[in-house]
Amino acid sequence: MTLTPVSPHRTSDSSDHGIDQEKIAPAVLAWVDSIAELTEPDHILWCDGSATEFDLLTHQMVAAGTLIRLNPEFRPYSFLARSAPSDVARVEERTFICSKDPDDAGPTNNWRQPDEMRATLRELFAGSMHGRTLYVVPFSMGPLGSPYSRLGVQITDSPYVVASMRIMTRMGSDALRLITEKTQWVPAVHSVGAPLEADDNDVPWPSNDTKYISHFPESREIWSFGSAYGGNALLPKKAFALRIASVIARDEGWLAEHMLILKVTNPRGRVFHVAAAFPSACGKTNLAMLRPTIPGWTVETIGDDIAWMYPGPDGRLRAINPESGFFGVAPGTGTATNATAVDTLWGNAIFTNVALRDDGDVWWEGLTEKAPEHLVDWKGNDWTPASGTPAAHPNSRFTVAAAQCPSISADWDDPDGVVIDAIIFGGRRASNVPLVVEARDWKHGVFVGATVSSERTAAAEGTVGELRRDPFAMMPFCGYNMADHWSHWLKVGERLSEYGTPPKIFQVNWFRKGSDGEFLWPGFAENSRVLEWILERVDGKAPAEDSPLGWKPVAGGINLNGTDVTGKHWRELFELDQDSWLAELDATERFFSEFGERLPAELTEQLADIRRRVHLSIEN
Ligand code: GTP
Ligand code: SPV
Ligand code: MN
Repeated sequence: MTLTPVSPHRTSDSSDHGIDQEKIAPAVLAWVDSIAELTEPDHILWCDGSATEFDLLTHQMVAAGTLIRLNPEFRPYSFLARSAPSDVARVEERTFICSKDPDDAGPTNNWRQPDEMRATLRELFAGSMHGRTLYVVPFSMGPLGSPYSRLGVQITDSPYVVASMRIMTRMGSDALRLITEKTQWVPAVHSVGAPLEADDNDVPWPSNDTKYISHFPESREIWSFGSAYGGNALLPKKAFALRIASVIARDEGWLAEHMLILKVTNPRGRVFHVAAAFPSACGKTNLAMLRPTIPGWTVETIGDDIAWMYPGPDGRLRAINPESGFFGVAPGTGTATNATAVDTLWGNAIFTNVALRDDGDVWWEGLTEKAPEHLVDWKGNDWTPASGTPAAHPNSRFTVAAAQCPSISADWDDPDGVVIDAIIFGGRRASNVPLVVEARDWKHGVFVGATVSSERTAAAEGTVGELRRDPFAMMPFCGYNMADHWSHWLKVGERLSEYGTPPKIFQVNWFRKGSDGEFLWPGFAENSRVLEWILERVDGKAPAEDSPLGWKPVAGGINLNGTDVTGKHWRELFELDQDSWLAELDATERFFSEFGERLPAELTEQLADIRRRVHLSIEN
């Protein structure tokens, strides 16, 4: 790794390890030059993705106070970062889709006229890297060279982002080599927006109160300013693999979704793959790393956040996990809830906004039942259990390589992907939504996905707990009109049906509460019982009962041995309160009407059908 001083701001000859400047695609070189000219960094560094480079960057960040090296006795090769208290989650209000036509962004996205946004961004980025290094980070989303993978290059002035990207993506010279004059690649520009002038001292977590997370779906580019946190800054993740990729997928006939992927083997040895969409901080990582409590079933992990799914020529839907790491919610991750994640985190991890123990290890709420007597909280202040504030920020996260997960499947990085047998939609719903139902068919499944609502979590700025629509768990991540996303799903279903049977679609809800305000379902590892029912349905082995909301398990249809789920709990888990359902369907109608003519007729038909079924259930 070599720092290349630049003056003027050009990519001069570089002797960076593993990067042969002469072989870099001219378009990449020209683009880097143009961004350097705009942002005026002190240095340019082409990242090769090597361990040496990672070590150097982390050393520099430790010296600068951005990272704290954790005690290697407990957490080898691991670091803690504390963000600025104003930069702790995705900023949906500051996330923009800049399509030419506002209707292409749709009513659920913040739209900005592209030229106006470009002008705003040029002003913000002008000189924004003064005193900093511009890192060029080439990356592949998906296994290097897989026909399903996509390439991109992120420019950033945050070494924390570079280090995180080395865990989260296939990053460096191998990815750069794949970019030729003929390859498509997505340019992504990121600046923390904190230029350093001559006498300025840097802060551990530079950022800017002005934030813009901007996407240009037509030119397929990303510009992000002002934040170094998560999806705001690790642009290959939400900005590329979901917002821009969803647009590419629409145009090319595939799906880019906010879904985990897991592999399940049943006691008879049949293998299934499942993709499941839950909104942010609603249990994807947990389900992806599930340790079944029922005998004979094995669950292996393929991905925990994003699935790219392609209808194959054989009519089957194949999926890859485009990422190579997990950026998981720390609070609530403990041996009782997700022992696999705890085991994954033995070392080689970057923790952000968790608490620091006196012995140099980390802690967060839910890691252990009892909190340590003394901690330094995520803001760097002394903390005791009497402090009355969380020691770790509710959206504190861990960044760790997928390959390090003990439950990772041998084919998690198969370039051909895995065949999806079932698709699950879920959300955080205290009422109305039953534990599990099976959609009647693909169209009904699309309705189920389109009507996902969920209580807000700390993953994004906003009021936690407030119920909001989150269709397909993609509300913050769909790069185009959400109604067109539904039409696209309907089209993909038709395509799959031409050759075979599309995956069955299910709805689940682990979060329903009883009249006492307690969760009715034990959740976590016990979700394997629901998974069993789902996959027995796929295998044609489990009976089901018709209900207005779809096929539901018959009484005793889910194995409850060893749980304390009573008959009363079961009834409440599936109870259909007609008044609240009719109100819910009215709210859905209002939501659908926001999309005007873009709303596919099939969804209006589904709504009418379910309303009729709910009405009938009143009369019965
Ligand atoms: P993003 O990374 O934000 O996209 O989220 P994710 O869906 O991967 O979130 P994650 O799995 O990290 O969700 C964590 C939160 O969900 C924690 O608060 C968990 O306690 C809670 N959670 C996960 N599974 C269950 C469950 O089965 N039951 C209950 N009650 N809570 C759960
Ligand atoms: C989410 O919010 O859905 C995440 C975390 O997965 S972030 O990468 O910050 O978007
Ligand atoms: Mn997510």
